Amino acid sequence: MLNTHSLIEPQDLSVEEIKELFTLADDIKNRPNLYINACEGKLMGTLFYEPSTRTRLSFASAMNRLGGRVVGFSDPSSSSATKGESVADTARMLSAYADIIVMRHPLEGAPKVASLYSDIPVINAGDGGHNHPTQTLTDLYTIHTVFGRTDNLKVGVCGDLKFGRTVHSLIMAMSRYSGIEFFLISPEELRVPRYLREFMDNNNVSYTEVETIEEVIADVDILYMTRIQRERFYDDSDYERLKDTYVLDAEKMQLAKENMIVMHPLPRVKEISREVDYDPRAKYFKQARYGMFIRMALILKLLEVGFKPNHTHLEPTKYHCKNTHCITKVENEPQQMIDMGDNNYKCLYCDYTVHIEE
Ligand code: NCD
Repeated sequence: MLNTHSLIEPQDLSVEEIKELFTLADDIKNRPNLYINACEGKLMGTLFYEPSTRTRLSFASAMNRLGGRVVGFSDPSSSSATKGESVADTARMLSAYADIIVMRHPLEGAPKVASLYSDIPVINAGDGGHNHPTQTLTDLYTIHTVFGRTDNLKVGVCGDLKFGRTVHSLIMAMSRYSGIEFFLISPEELRVPRYLREFMDNNNVSYTEVETIEEVIADVDILYMTRIQRERFYDDSDYERLKDTYVLDAEKMQLAKENMIVMHPLPRVKEISREVDYDPRAKYFKQARYGMFIRMALILKLLEVGFKPNHTHLEPTKYHCKNTHCITKVENEPQQMIDMGDNNYKCLYCDYTVHIEE
């Protein structure tokens, strides 16, 4: 049984619970007819404040294949967000109509806020450059399906490691398996955020930061490519300079192991050449399909466990989050900077850490 009620960050699911989801997703994949009425009478509300093709359609397909229904918006300009309605109030409203909420938002921590006010489970479908836990379930399920394991793997992660939320969630989730070695491939300016490096250091996770694919491609079992996240840059000229840093092509693929796989959360821009699509090691389109099955399993489990709302009134903390992309910068949520010791404080909503010397 899942012991969580919302999925906001990858750690909301234990390793054991993820394994249960794999088993259920396998069964759904093999015997889909058994599940066609599993969510009959249930309604999913999809609140997409940011563009999406795969994730939104994958959730909608998953719910429809389970016999449930979907309401929601894919364009915030058609919602009350334009009238200034807060995420908290929208979550309260949806709770009155639906049975489960799926939310994507450009601000980091927005789904966390929704989960604190909602009476029904909330699934984070991507919050700014922060987390994307159901993409991680998709990634893990793909790895599990291809390799038959999610441990003892050398994982190259390439591209925009600073703003790439799928990367952040993947690192968090995979760090819990034994024998994982990360090779983090990015330009200096797009390295993983500090909170993640601290997380890996504190948990003795092996990682090496490099700047080129060629340095590591021969060693890795998985090469996880990502797009440079144009929409998260503060300055478009930085994007222009960095956008073509990495291109995985047939020539580089020749250096890789026979059973290495290439993954990508998609959409891709130019970081994987089209010729690689025909290499059997390219798994990114299959990955998208696996995502639907694992989301079906997740929806079923979250609806099965029953939801206990946790509406506690939070007193604001003394210090404020300094992340300009944090939900608290725009909406009037109580500041929650958690004391991590040694004068370090971490935001409950977006994980941004600050060091405060008084
Ligand atoms: C990713 C996302 O939205 O973060 N896409 C997805 O959900 N499959 C990756 C991206 O946009 O680059």
